[in-house]
Amino acid sequence: MGKLLEFRNISKTFPGVKALDDVSLDLNPGEVHVVVGENGAGKSTMMKIISGVYAPDRGELLLDDIPLGRNTPKIAEQHGIAMIYQELSIVPELSVMENIFLGHEIRRGILIDRKAMDKRAEELLASIGVKVSPGTLVKNLSIANQQMIEIAKALSKNARVIVFDEPTSSLTDAEIKELFRIITALRGKGVGMFYISHRLEEIFEIGDRITIMRDGRKIATAPIAEMDMGKVVEGIAGRRIENVFQRHFPAKGEILLELKDLCGERFQHVNLNVRAGEIIGLAGLVGSGRSEVVRAAFGIDPYSAGEVLVRGKKMPRNNPQRLAHEGVAFLPEDRKREGLALSLSIRENAVISALRRLNPLTIVDGRRERATVRDFVRKLGISSPTIEKLVHFLSGGTQQKVVLAKWLITEASIFIFDEPTRGIDVGSKSSIYSLMDELVGLGAGIVMISSELPEVLGMSDRIYVMAQGRIAGEIDREEADHVSVIQLAFSQTSASQGRSLQ
Ligand SMILES: Nc1ncnc2c1ncn2[C@@H]1O[C@H](COP(=O)(O)OP(=O)(O)OP(=O)(O)O)[C@@H](O)[C@H]1O
Ligand SMILES: [Mg+2]
Repeated sequence: MGKLLEFRNISKTFPGVKALDDVSLDLNPGEVHVVVGENGAGKSTMMKIISGVYAPDRGELLLDDIPLGRNTPKIAEQHGIAMIYQELSIVPELSVMENIFLGHEIRRGILIDRKAMDKRAEELLASIGVKVSPGTLVKNLSIANQQMIEIAKALSKNARVIVFDEPTSSLTDAEIKELFRIITALRGKGVGMFYISHRLEEIFEIGDRITIMRDGRKIATAPIAEMDMGKVVEGIAGRRIENVFQRHFPAKGEILLELKDLCGERFQHVNLNVRAGEIIGLAGLVGSGRSEVVRAAFGIDPYSAGEVLVRGKKMPRNNPQRLAHEGVAFLPEDRKREGLALSLSIRENAVISALRRLNPLTIVDGRRERATVRDFVRKLGISSPTIEKLVHFLSGGTQQKVVLAKWLITEASIFIFDEPTRGIDVGSKSSIYSLMDELVGLGAGIVMISSELPEVLGMSDRIYVMAQGRIAGEIDREEADHVSVIQLAFSQTSASQGRSLQ
């Protein structure tokens, strides 16, 4: 059987970076080819060459063993290549049907045939088992369902190659299962798929073959059955990582941050505290109210009752500047929108929050500033030829690291991290964990929201588990395991019994 697609000896250079260095790989019909590698390894660049966004400097792309020659997004689409990005490209204000056929409407003569499109949309959605009516406005759908619409759109253009670039990073476990069910169905239809992810457990579940990238080069391609987690991790990081979660347990100090009976639209009576020297895990299902609580605590969103205390001092509502001034740092879940200025450099983004805290009369010492930024760039493994590179041109995971650097530089003493390692490669994860350990060793306190249980269990001194907007329970490190956390996460807190999930 011929290859569906072949990537032959492709190189691509950006200013100061060899993003791809003589890379070859291929895709068979009905195959899920997983691509992994550290942040900035060149994965997304590869996929953008396949979908015609970038032209390679050298090498060629073949479809059905025939060189494609010039490629553009339009040409790629005509050849049945579709890309499902992490940031979705659908139009929220349009209906499901309108989104599916946007740009390639079915016509009768010169008139748009809505009836035919409704019917076809229904068939497409049914073919992947999605129960959404074609007339629904896309903005009313969950992220997962929006992604399903993207898949239906790809199928409406007869896609034979579908690229998934970190599709699961904002999905719940149940939604990931649903996506995998659809991928399995597509496999049966002979669609070839590339699948990029940093969530290594899932690649063993969904992949047929795996390619490991590092520094723009291909390290290996192998059937997934011949790989194990250790080999994959070593291939990605370029070194063995024995113990990802390094913890020392310093003596605990004063209570740094305390939430007293905090109530808001999506959470009720939340009580929690973090002491100097402690990492607190905030676990629970996606949608259980964890992010809402910390956003209110930091003053980004309002709350209706209760108190937020920093070192015993009551904080005003809706005043994130005040909290930052008191030494609280907040890493939001949606970094792209809330955490970064894309048109500024790594250095400018990194020092932005630190500047706010400095006395305006302080003369900013440029050399010291650059040295500090370089120090964090090294510690976090930010891959960029210079700290003056615009954040816009960094890889997805590298952008995440810049947001982290930005808060670490402020010398805050209380850190609220919402999903700190999402989109981050396995080697850098372990550096971030040791940075967190270092911070609490210096007397900081950390509140960490995470949907990755191993991370919560590995890093936390204490774990608060949320369910349906309430703290369902608190577990000490010694007592915590998968079962105890999951049981609480699924528990019905008495006062919310009978109430539906938001
Ligand atoms: N348009 C661009 N201009 C300049 N440099 C770029 C551009 N696009 C990508 N790069 C650089 O190319 C390298 C590879 O980036 P790419 O986005 O392919 O990485 P990735 O493997 O997808 O990483 P991640 O896991 O973080 O998403 C990075 O060093 C990145 O900064
Ligand atoms: Mg990427």
